[in-house]
Amino acid sequence: MLQKATLLVALLDAYALAAAVPEPTNHPALHHGSRVHDQAPLAAPDPAITPSPALNDPTKTLHRRNIIDDAKNDVKSYLTELGSNIPSYVADGVANFFQDFPSGSAVQTSLGLSDDQLAALPTSVLNIPPYGNWTDQGWNVRFHGNVYKQPNTTTEKLNDLANVFLIGTDIDQLSASEQDQARNLTASIFVVQQGNETVQMHLEPAPSAGSSGQSGGGGAVTPAGGDQNLTLPYNTTGEGDFDVFLPIANTTGGLLAGNETQEIQRLNVYANGSEIGNATAYLVPPTGLTVISDVDDILRVTKIYQPKEGLLNSFARPFTPWLNMPDIYANWSRSLPDTHFHYLTTTPEQVTRNYMDFIYKTYPGGSFDTRPLNFSDVSATLSIRKFLLDKIFQTFPQRKFILVADTSNSDIMKDYPQMAKQYPGQVQCIFLRNTSATDDDKFPYDTSGFQDLNQTTYMFFKVPDDLTNLDIAGGNCYNSTIPQNVTFGTQDELLGLHGAAAAVAPPGKGGLAGLVVALGVAMLIL
Ligand SMILES: *[C@@H]1O[C@H](CO)[C@@H](O)[C@H](O)[C@H]1NC(C)=O
Ligand SMILES: *[C@@H]1O[C@H](CO)[C@@H](O)[C@H](O)[C@H]1NC(C)=O
Ligand SMILES: *[C@@H]1O[C@H](CO)[C@@H](O)[C@H](O)[C@H]1NC(C)=O
Ligand SMILES: *[C@@H]1O[C@H](CO)[C@@H](O)[C@H](O)[C@H]1NC(C)=O
Ligand SMILES: *[C@@H]1O[C@H](CO)[C@@H](O)[C@H](O)[C@H]1NC(C)=O
Ligand SMILES: *[C@@H]1O[C@H](CO)[C@@H](O)[C@H](O)[C@H]1NC(C)=O
Ligand SMILES: *[C@@H]1O[C@H](CO)[C@@H](O)[C@H](O)[C@H]1NC(C)=O
Ligand SMILES: *[C@@H]1O[C@H](CO)[C@@H](O)[C@H](O)[C@H]1NC(C)=O
Ligand SMILES: *[C@@H]1O[C@H](CO)[C@@H](O)[C@H](O)[C@H]1NC(C)=O
Ligand SMILES: *[C@@H]1O[C@H](CO)[C@@H](O)[C@H](O)[C@H]1NC(C)=O
Ligand SMILES: *[C@@H]1O[C@H](CO)[C@@H](O)[C@H](O)[C@H]1NC(C)=O
Ligand SMILES: *[C@@H]1O[C@H](CO)[C@@H](O)[C@H](O)[C@H]1NC(C)=O
Repeated sequence: MLQKATLLVALLDAYALAAAVPEPTNHPALHHGSRVHDQAPLAAPDPAITPSPALNDPTKTLHRRNIIDDAKNDVKSYLTELGSNIPSYVADGVANFFQDFPSGSAVQTSLGLSDDQLAALPTSVLNIPPYGNWTDQGWNVRFHGNVYKQPNTTTEKLNDLANVFLIGTDIDQLSASEQDQARNLTASIFVVQQGNETVQMHLEPAPSAGSSGQSGGGGAVTPAGGDQNLTLPYNTTGEGDFDVFLPIANTTGGLLAGNETQEIQRLNVYANGSEIGNATAYLVPPTGLTVISDVDDILRVTKIYQPKEGLLNSFARPFTPWLNMPDIYANWSRSLPDTHFHYLTTTPEQVTRNYMDFIYKTYPGGSFDTRPLNFSDVSATLSIRKFLLDKIFQTFPQRKFILVADTSNSDIMKDYPQMAKQYPGQVQCIFLRNTSATDDDKFPYDTSGFQDLNQTTYMFFKVPDDLTNLDIAGGNCYNSTIPQNVTFGTQDELLGLHGAAAAVAPPGKGGLAGLVVALGVAMLIL
């Protein structure tokens, strides 16, 4: 959820700036994490809208620009209605900078921890469920995660810190369970990352309901062996991260070779010295189907495009599945044998545990990717999803991928169709939930990347049921009963920016202006 994560943080900052200024002494995070202070407002970047053919036609450019400007102004006025001074880069739908959560030493200072107190804390490992590929050297597993210490912070302090995030409301105004959730998430952000640490792993066969609490997914099987201890070849980075492919041994002859089976094998991976460093590794054969799924607003209700809701859904409320999406995934897991599920979100690493807990209670088990901490700088933030997508495509050059997300991420709108072009034959389906068709989402999205793709390979949809009865294995990913409205340009149903398929439908909230704009877009396409 790159754009959403960035957007969320940008919104937090925007709200923080607009809100009655919290006393800095009460909110050390603001000082030490440089979340809000010292950030001169950056100039709004050009939104990265890939030019459509119409945009390149000089006779049409002016008109086209006006439509896009109108859409942006509409978004801006919508955001202004929220009563906050939202910076224009947010209104452009391209929040281009990322202000990181507070870093290790800032957390230590803000919590007033001495070095001795810190040293006395137990070490924890965030062990992110890995995938492994089959190579000449055997199975090759990508271990990745983070080493940190979790300070024992008082409830009062956590309340103060949570209030930094809960803009527009106070933790006292939340229900008891929401307060717990807000404190829990805040605590997971205020951790002290441990650099230059050696990481050791213990592997053993994972029963179907692993001790990590994950239920098996995608028909994964338990191998007969694979017990072993490994020391990762590199120490953690300055931010406590580790991320390395390592061959594993076929101990007791219990692992099936990747060229002997189509089944995914499951191993439990325990990070030594951490009670909460358990994960499940998935050994994935060279051929077959892999579902790569985003999480926010496709697997869970986030509503990041409604800033206040997005904040509460991320920081206070329990994570909630989106409609009957769990049924769709459960059905894929049953009906598409040996499918590998990979959850790829660009949410900041610190909050990944909450995402994993939710996914493994609700969706098929599978490997996970999240935003590593060293990807916090601006340029990397904008390319993290592509980096992670490239990595998994290159790890499984013969597998076919089903890419799932929603339209409110501008990086996804660019990267998903790009994968289809860059790795011909590897993208089986792209499924995108159109949040602007069902929700109060006024952030325009760009469909120009889909221009050269065959409609059988992608579908914009509204509700999970639209995904039923599709012949995914046969490569028929389009439910022809679902109007697509695709303009191959900037779109938003609510703003009335949509294609010919929608032109006959009554205008929604866009009113008459929406209809006029819709007709204008339709004319440009013709
Ligand atoms: C499987 O791969 C291994 C290692 O590359 C090779 O030695 C073996 O012959 C292969 N088996 C089959 C059935 O292709
Ligand atoms: C954490 O702090 C609370 C209250 O300050 C205390 O009761 C508890 O024993 C502490 N736990 C640890 C593991 O230090
Ligand atoms: C947050 O809640 C989860 C689930 O109850 C728990 O496992 C985890 O330890 C909590 N995290 C923190 C930082 O308190
Ligand atoms: C890591 O720790 C070792 C042993 O204390 C030290 O020699 C080395 O310089 C450290 N490396 C970094 C990058 O801090
Ligand atoms: C790695 O960290 C260990 C301590 O965990 C230290 O003893 C060792 O020297 C470090 N290695 C390097 C190459 O820095
Ligand atoms: C992790 O695995 C160890 C060893 O099986 C177990 O003792 C521990 O309770 C597990 N922790 C979690 C959080 O599942
Ligand atoms: C892994 O290490 C643990 C403790 O360090 C030990 O008890 C166990 O026998 C080792 N397992 C293997 C397969 O070497
Ligand atoms: C592991 O060893 C067994 C027995 O020798 C063999 O059948 C199997 O193919 C091997 N698996 C791998 C992953 O090399
Ligand atoms: C396995 O994954 C690694 C890391 O992405 C990649 O370099 C390698 O080419 C892959 N091996 C095969 C046989 O696909
Ligand atoms: C799209 O794909 C379908 C199914 O593979 C094929 O029949 C059709 O000819 C393709 N259309 C175009 C325009 O390439
Ligand atoms: C298409 O979508 C409709 C409406 O959600 C659904 O009832 C139907 O099962 C879907 N699949 C096909 C192949 O029509
Ligand atoms: C297509 O446009 C119509 C009219 O605005 C709208 O009702 C429908 O939800 C849109 N469909 C999709 C998949 O966006």
